[in-house]
Amino acid sequence: MTSGNREPRNIVLGVSGGIACYKAVELVRLLVRDGFTVQVIMTREALEFVTPLTFQTISGRSVATETFSLTQESEIGHINLADQADLLVIAPATANIIGKIATGIADDLLTTVIMATRAQVLIAPSMNVHMYENPILQGNISKLKGLGYHFMEPVEGYLACGYEGRGRLPEPQDIVEEIHGLVKKKDLVGERLLITAGPNREPLDPIRYIGNRSSGKMGYALARIGVRRGAEVTLISGPTSLRPPQGVRLISVLTAAEMRQAVLKEFSAATAVLMAAAVADYHPEKLLPKKIKRGRDPIQLRLKPNPDILREVGMRKNGQILIGFAAETEALVANAKKKLHEKNLDLIVANNVTEEGSGFDVDTNVATILDRKGGVHSLPLMSKEELADRIYDYLLALKNSTSS
Ligand code: CTP
Repeated sequence: MTSGNREPRNIVLGVSGGIACYKAVELVRLLVRDGFTVQVIMTREALEFVTPLTFQTISGRSVATETFSLTQESEIGHINLADQADLLVIAPATANIIGKIATGIADDLLTTVIMATRAQVLIAPSMNVHMYENPILQGNISKLKGLGYHFMEPVEGYLACGYEGRGRLPEPQDIVEEIHGLVKKKDLVGERLLITAGPNREPLDPIRYIGNRSSGKMGYALARIGVRRGAEVTLISGPTSLRPPQGVRLISVLTAAEMRQAVLKEFSAATAVLMAAAVADYHPEKLLPKKIKRGRDPIQLRLKPNPDILREVGMRKNGQILIGFAAETEALVANAKKKLHEKNLDLIVANNVTEEGSGFDVDTNVATILDRKGGVHSLPLMSKEELADRIYDYLLALKNSTSS
């Protein structure tokens, strides 16, 4: 079994002196949350904005600041720092530090480490809009891009210097995503994944609908990890409060009928379909044109069944790997097995939604993956992103076994 989980995990984060230093603190927190080891290096100017203690507390490691401090050099020498990095990130990067890197100046710890490293380098500039637009800086960026350095564009908005324009450091969450994309093994290149996520809303009258508790987190995790591993991802999503992952093609739908239409339109172009959506099984027989008024008597709703989208795709598939999900409250394996065969799936990911850490609106899942050969793989509690990785590992293993 291949493992998408074993990926480079050591990040050296260079923080240079700009007001966006405070965002670098959040960046460290998010990276640590995602399992990265983060060694922070601060320039002298950065020390004016945030104290090393802040970064030390969040990263759990002492912060490196000076090349020639003898204690630091013996504990975390600059060549060591350069060698241990799987990825070097500079955020925020000032015009000054970009200029130094572009001209080969190594006159402090951070620039020396950058000079000495063989790891990939990601630079996230942040500065006043006029500085950013200055042709000298732009020339330096082009030169460094040509040498293989990675850059993130600053975003537009209100700048601390009082100007509006391009110069803000991207949100820490977006920098984290970029980092994941750079360190992750690209073993899904060439795959075109069609993923569904979230609940459906089946309208009853202009105000009300029937819905379910799906948050969409599993489908969005699949989409995010798919992009990180190099796949092209189309995400058909019911209404959720989640931010669409970067790099996916998002198709938003409400009802099961709309989801069905989108899936049937898209699926022939896909190499794999992952139906993580909690598709509504029924819709109100009548959509009332006016609001149902409150009354004293009970009212009855007649519900009509929705088509089973996955079953239809299972009947029509030609070469796509089809992965379904089964939300169960009892007889997990037996029910999931039945769905696997009845819907003509290649894999089914089953979870008992009543179990702690599993099910709706949580970031974790306890899943059992079943395949057509009778394999039943019970996985421990893990984050939905880790589960997405495991699902892709199974998908790749399945592809390899059928192609060999
Ligand atoms: N599914 C679908 N269309 C439906 C219902 C479900 O495509 N109308 C898909 C889901 O996205 C999921 C799989 O089928 O991948 C199983 O969904 P689940 O709700 O567990 O099962 P159902 O087939 O609806 O059966 P039941 O509700 O009786 O458990």
